[in-house]
Amino acid sequence: MERIRFGLVGCGGMGTRHLYGLQQLAQTPFCNVELAAVCDIRPQHAELAAAEAERLLGRRPTVYPDLEAMRRGEPDLAAVDVVTDPSTHHTVVCQALDQGLHVVVEKPMAITVRACRQMLETAGRRGLLLSVAENFRRDPSARLVHHLVEQGAIGVPYMGLFHSVSPGNTIFITPWRHRKERGGALLDMAVHFTHMIRYQLGQIAEVYSDARLVEPVRYKATETKSPYTFYRTQFGEMETQVRATAEDTSLAVFRMESGAVVSWMVGLGGHGSCHRELIMGDRGCIEGFGTRGGRISLKRVGQDELSQEVLLARTPGFALDPLTAHLFPTGVTATDPAVDLKLIAIELHELAAAISAEGMVEVDAEWGLKDVAALYAVFESSKVGRPVKMDEVESGQVFKYQAEIDAALGL
Ligand SMILES: NC(=O)c1ccc[n+]([C@@H]2O[C@H](COP(=O)([O-])OP(=O)(O)OC[C@H]3O[C@@H](n4cnc5c(N)ncnc54)[C@H](O)[C@@H]3O)[C@@H](O)[C@H]2O)c1
Repeated sequence: MERIRFGLVGCGGMGTRHLYGLQQLAQTPFCNVELAAVCDIRPQHAELAAAEAERLLGRRPTVYPDLEAMRRGEPDLAAVDVVTDPSTHHTVVCQALDQGLHVVVEKPMAITVRACRQMLETAGRRGLLLSVAENFRRDPSARLVHHLVEQGAIGVPYMGLFHSVSPGNTIFITPWRHRKERGGALLDMAVHFTHMIRYQLGQIAEVYSDARLVEPVRYKATETKSPYTFYRTQFGEMETQVRATAEDTSLAVFRMESGAVVSWMVGLGGHGSCHRELIMGDRGCIEGFGTRGGRISLKRVGQDELSQEVLLARTPGFALDPLTAHLFPTGVTATDPAVDLKLIAIELHELAAAISAEGMVEVDAEWGLKDVAALYAVFESSKVGRPVKMDEVESGQVFKYQAEIDAALGL
């Protein structure tokens, strides 16, 4: 099988997990990639990643200080995997595309809609693939929900609920996740949710919302239980407190183009907590939009709830792609400790397969832009105090909230 040579750009927490994802792919008969090089503007991160890669993959990638040096040193690279923090995605990705490289970039596609548009236009102009690594969608639970909704298993969806609120005032993974101009915690986490709402229920037409900063100061947690050397080292070096500028709590109504409405409550702060996802149709409802390592179930009035296992057994037309089926033979990921890594394996495999076959990627720049726009619609609506149409946000017509970020980054 042809192996696509690629480089990893950004060797932080998620960059490290991508190496473990590669190991998962390397252990299957589907491996179609070869990690040639890694780079990070922090040399110690790149060195640690190269050492991890050597241990996990049996070959040490060459270490470079940045993408430019990597490109010079590796003329036969076909692609890069960009896992830098979101405020840098547009710069790094456009540079890679201009160097003739295909790209997979971690979610969120970019820090603002304007930044996403730059990337989308550059990929289009260069005729290169730009894939957004949206892992939730690739979980078998999400694939099953999509199939059930499409097949009319719950009739016509008319309402949904996406509530994910966790209390507290600790630093969420990294200090940058509390800075508006670096990509706040809601953008970082909830872009998965706007994606899943769109994946399962189609396009969003309009958003009305309220967004708030409930915890203006964030404190370092007392400990980390991460199994990864990178995260433990990062935690040891972390400042004890951070002044937050990015909103951490949001409540919204999404009006879908189909006419369905979705209630949204997403936050990472304060004192309450609630977690529930529901898709209601006129013939039944599904608990869960599908998520990494999650479970879903289906319920109809007067009937027993059908578990994911039962649904899999009773849905003969449903099939996972060969790699996903190989990695998750039962079709249930809820108890699989490596689910996060296996989904990364699927993302990297998909880009390489698309390069080899001159095909398409599933979550392209258009998807990525719309996911980011939907999340910013929550902030924009709150800022202007009225419902905003997705067209207004996607086109950049409404950008009052993002203007400050665009200005700070020179966009
Ligand atoms: N899909 C998921 O489940 C998931 C989970 C965590 C993070 N992420 C995403 O992964 C990305 C990275 O997050 P993280 O937690 O690893 O952040 P991080 O801060 O731990 O790591 C970012 C790394 O990028 C490096 N970097 C910054 N600018 C660079 C440049 N121009 N060239 C090379 N390296 C550069 C930094 O030095 C750092 O090592 C973000 O977009 C985040 O949202 C996704």
